[in-house]
This record gives sequence, C-alpha cells and structure tokens, in this order.
Amino acid sequence: MKIRKAVFPVAGLGTRVLPATKAMPKEMLTIVDKPLIQYVVDEAKEAGIEHFIFVTGRNKGVIEDHFDRMYELDATLAARGKQAEIEILARDQSEAGAMSFTRQQAPLGLGHAVWCARDIVGDEPFAVVLPDELVLNAPGCLAQMIEAANKLGEKSNLIAVEEVPAHLTHQYGICGVGKRHGSTMFEVDGMVEKPPKGTAPSNLSITGRYILQSEIFRILETQERGAGGEIQLTDAMIGLARTQRFYGVEFEGERHDCGSKAGFLRANIAFGMARADLRDGLRAEMQHYLERK
Ligand code: G1P
Repeated sequence: MKIRKAVFPVAGLGTRVLPATKAMPKEMLTIVDKPLIQYVVDEAKEAGIEHFIFVTGRNKGVIEDHFDRMYELDATLAARGKQAEIEILARDQSEAGAMSFTRQQAPLGLGHAVWCARDIVGDEPFAVVLPDELVLNAPGCLAQMIEAANKLGEKSNLIAVEEVPAHLTHQYGICGVGKRHGSTMFEVDGMVEKPPKGTAPSNLSITGRYILQSEIFRILETQERGAGGEIQLTDAMIGLARTQRFYGVEFEGERHDCGSKAGFLRANIAFGMARADLRDGLRAEMQHYLERK
C-alpha cells in the first residue's frame, strides 16, 4: 500500500539549543538558507508523500506561516522583478489542503505526539519524520526506506538505523539484529528505548525515520510512560512487534543531529559544502579560521 502521509512531531521545546529556541521553534533553525522543517518536508515530498501532518504545540505558529503564502512579500518581489526569489518561494509552496496541523497540548513524549495524529492518518501505513535529524544524501533517507518497503511487499514496519559509538547508546532507541535481508536490511530482534549504559543489545540506534502500520495507534492509546517518564514510540513499537514484523534499514547518507549545538554547526558546514554556489567561498572562510591562532 502506498505510503501517502507523513507525521512530523514538532512540539518539542528545543532545550538543547537555548536561548535560540526561547521564542522560536527549533524546527525553524536555519541550515544554510532553509529552516529544518523545510528540509524534512522536501525529503518527504521527494519520497512521494502527499499529505504532511504536523503535531505542533504552543509557540509553533510560525511553522504554519512558513508554508503559507506571504502576500506582501509576493507583491513586493513581483513589483521589483525579483524573479529568482519568486521562484524560491514558489518551489517551497505546498499544495492547498496538503498540510494538516494538530496540537499536542502537553509534552508527554514522542509516542503521545504520534498518537495525536491518529485521526488524520486514519487506517493506512504512514511515515514518521523527526525534523531534528537531517540526512545528507540523494536519494533521501525516506525515499530509501519507501523503496525498501516496496521491495519487501508485505505488511511490515521499518525503522532507519545507524551505528553509534557504544558510549552513546543510552541516548537513543537501540535495536537488536535478527535475520539479514540483503546488505542493508535486517529483521529487528528486540528494541529498547535509552538502555542504561552497558546494557544495549547492539550499537544500532533508531534514527528519526519510521514507516509504521496504523495498528500502532491502538497500542499508543494505552501505552504507559517509559524512559524519562514519557510515552515512548519505541515502547509501542515493541508491542506491535509481537504481531507484526519490523525491519531495520541501514540507509546511505550522513546523519546530522541538528537539535544539538555541535550538530547544528556541523550540519551548516556539511550542507554549505554540498552547495556548488557556496562551497568555494565557505572553504576559503574556514581556511582563514583554521589558520588563525
Ligand atoms: C527519539 C526516539 C529514539 C531515537 C531518537 C533519534 O528520542 O525516542 O528512539 O533514537 O529520537 O533521534 P529523543 O531524541 O526524542 O530523545
């Protein structure tokens, strides 16, 4: 069944990048010249997603504005004949009715945020994309996962995974590795959210891209709080794995955690260097700072 819908949980407070996120949503932090949220929407579009569902919270209204028209801007650019800028705005404009916004009223966790989208998703498989994480690759991470799902051709769930150093496994959801399917996919054999140090079943972390069957919502409905006192998506996936298969996808591409200060800076350099129009200038600037004592 075609994956048509993607859920973007964007209610988080962004405490790791304060004070930038005091009055501005972390999803609007800019990597080069686009906000994070635009990157992940573009990644989803490229993967064939048709409906974009944002689970927002208070102070996140500007995300909705970003995907709307700005009439004053359009009119001024047109009057001044700024064609290149007009094209940039037109490129990012979503189709009418292709976006839905719903609110998570309290920060109860990722599992609860996804559950808030249940009625908009309905009874069909869907993607979950965490906007903190960008993957620099063509094709994008979600497109790779949807291709993997299509190849499997069975009702199943997929999670994007990536190796992390052993001393960091306690910061992530971690999955165990079962039977391998080709070089980049395996059956998931157990999952655990933020395992205490030294107890992780592997060093394969769950990253911010999922393809899930809608039965997850029934489990989330009664899901108890887990790690960090939050309703965890991973715990609900453990429940769903009792009756449905989960596959881990080792995607191609460089993953950037833009929700941390170091990761945010690194992503700006990586995405800047990937841009033909900016690469040379950026390299010269970096050289200058590297040489400075
Ligand atoms: C969430 C998930 C976790 C996953 C991580 C990836 O955790 O719960 O399983 O590994 O995203 O970024 P969070 O970063 O919200 O604590």
